[in-house]
Order: sequence, then structure tokens, then C-alpha cells
Amino acid sequence: MTDHTHGTAAPKHDHHHHHGSTEMDWDAMATHLERDAEIYTPVLEQATAWLRDLLTESAGPGPDEVRRVLDVGSGPGVTSCLLAHAFPNAEIVAVDPTEALLDRARDRAARLGLADRFRTETAELPDGIDGIGDADVIWSSKALHHVGDQAAAVDALARLLRPRGLLVVSEGGLPARMLPRDFGIGRPGFLNRLDVVHEDWFVRMRAALPGARDLVEDWPAVLTAAGLHSPRSRSFLLDRPAPLDPTTRAYAVTQFERYAEVFGDELDAEDRATLDRLLDPADPAGLAQRGDLFWLAAQSFHTARAA
Ligand SMILES: C[S@@+](CC[C@H](N)C(=O)[O-])C[C@H]1O[C@@H](n2cnc3c(N)ncnc32)[C@H](O)[C@@H]1O
Repeated sequence: MTDHTHGTAAPKHDHHHHHGSTEMDWDAMATHLERDAEIYTPVLEQATAWLRDLLTESAGPGPDEVRRVLDVGSGPGVTSCLLAHAFPNAEIVAVDPTEALLDRARDRAARLGLADRFRTETAELPDGIDGIGDADVIWSSKALHHVGDQAAAVDALARLLRPRGLLVVSEGGLPARMLPRDFGIGRPGFLNRLDVVHEDWFVRMRAALPGARDLVEDWPAVLTAAGLHSPRSRSFLLDRPAPLDPTTRAYAVTQFERYAEVFGDELDAEDRATLDRLLDPADPAGLAQRGDLFWLAAQSFHTARAA
């Protein structure tokens, strides 16, 4: 499944992020989220190009008439900066409950020469965003699943859309694959069994969120129920073949360390031993050394329009 183990908004309730000071944890998370979005940049660029096409094809502001964009649950702002490039005449507002991540977003925007049209707002879905002002495009990627009441969050996002504005929600896709079915350690099919414990953990994670409510994750229907129309969905492929560049390899290792920490103990003994070998930097069959490591995934995007 798509990775969900990063980006929980409330560190004090997140036992998995706490080994030292909160600051250190946010720092490590910010670095991982930055790397994640940098690796997924080809996907995000395909998604923003698709948004430009949607805005060109229909009534309402064309892509170059978009004046204000919100990136809600922006994290460290990699996507916010990509949105700034996709919408060159817009003010971009990165919105997140975590100030430390917004600091990173501001630094990035300044480095890229975008500071004059880049703002941040510390705010939390669903109710906290009411005051941040309306926008022509509202983007929220991999953030809604951290909110207990996702339908209320979509309602809150939809309320901020200007007439004919576009809401984009990115959730789900295809589970990432990074090793062949049989990679020479343990029983073939390890990644499918890892998906199962990941899914079970995800259910527990969501159930523990404040105000948790079940939602049928039919995103076009959720967007329509929020009063929007013309739902469209697309998924884009991330294909990083072997041999992996060092950055993507380091990202893969961090991701697997998180899996081990968060739900590794739910695996049976043989699979747990496989995971430990994959994480052993001295093992030639481990992720740090093996030549066949790749990263293949798909990320889904759902959009709909305001009247
Ligand atoms: C997995 S990260 C995704 C970051 C970025 N949007 C991306 O796609 O790379 C999840 C982000 O959602 C934020 N978040 C968590 N709960 C939130 C809430 N209730 N409202 C808004 N953002 C939230 C987290 O602080 C984190 O930055």
C-alpha cells in the first residue's frame, strides 16, 4: 500500500516518533518528507500538468489566471514549490499544523526565489482552516488520512474554493514495489505480507485519531458530497529502476526502518528475520548493498470543481 507511516500531526500521541526530543523527531521527519516528495517529483509534475490541462479545458480561471493556491498538509513544502512553478501568477500558501515543517517550507521557497509569493499558515484540518482565505486551487496530498473526520476535512476544503475553483486530493494509489517476488531471502511474496500488516496498522492508526470516523474511500463521491462537481481521477507512475541512485536507496532504507519499527513485530518469525536481514547494512543481500533494488509505485489524485 501507499506509505502512511509519516506525517502524523500530533507527535505527543505518536509513540513511534519519540526517541528523543520532539525537535529532533520533526527534523528527521522533515528530511524524510522532503526526500519523499523529491523522489516523487516526476509524479507530482505529471499531476500539476494534468491540473493545468483541466483548468484550460473548462470554464473558470485558466492556469495562468490562478491567483491563490493552498497546499493543505504541505509538510516541508516541496509540493508547494512545485505548485508555485505550475501556477506562476499565484500566491502559494503552505498550510500545516506543524510549525517546524513550515519553517522548512519557507526556507525552500526562499532558496528557490519564490519568497515574494509564498506564505505559510499554521492550521489544522478540519476546523482550523476556516480563516485562511479562499483560493482558486486547493491541493491536499497524503494529509487527509491523518484527520479523524476526513469528510469534514473535505467539506472544510470545499468551503474555501472560489467559484469554479478546483480541489485536488491525493490519497492512495498502488503499493510501492522495490524487490522481486523472490529476492533470495525467506519465502517469496514477502512484500504482500508486509502490505497486510501495514494495512492492519493503518486501521489501528486511524481508529486512534481524535474524532475518528469511518469513510468509504470513494473520493469522487466524497468530493461530490461536499457540493463539488465534475470529479476526475488520475494516477501517475513512479518508476525508478535498478540500479538505484544513492538518495532513493537511502529513502528505501529509511522507509523499511519505519516499517520495522511501526509494524515489523506483526510479521511472523521468518518474515521478521527477512526484514532484519534487509536492514543489515553489512549484509550483501540487504537494502544498503543489493543491486536489484528499485522503486515502483503509483499515486492517485482526485479533483472536483466548485460551482
Ligand atoms: C505524509 S505528510 C504529506 C506532506 C505533503 N503533502 C506531501 O504530499 O509530501 C502529511 C502532512 O499532513 C500534515 N497533517 C497531519 N494532520 C493534519 C491536519 N489535521 N490538518 C492539516 N495537515 C495535517 C502533517 O503535519 C504532514 O505535514
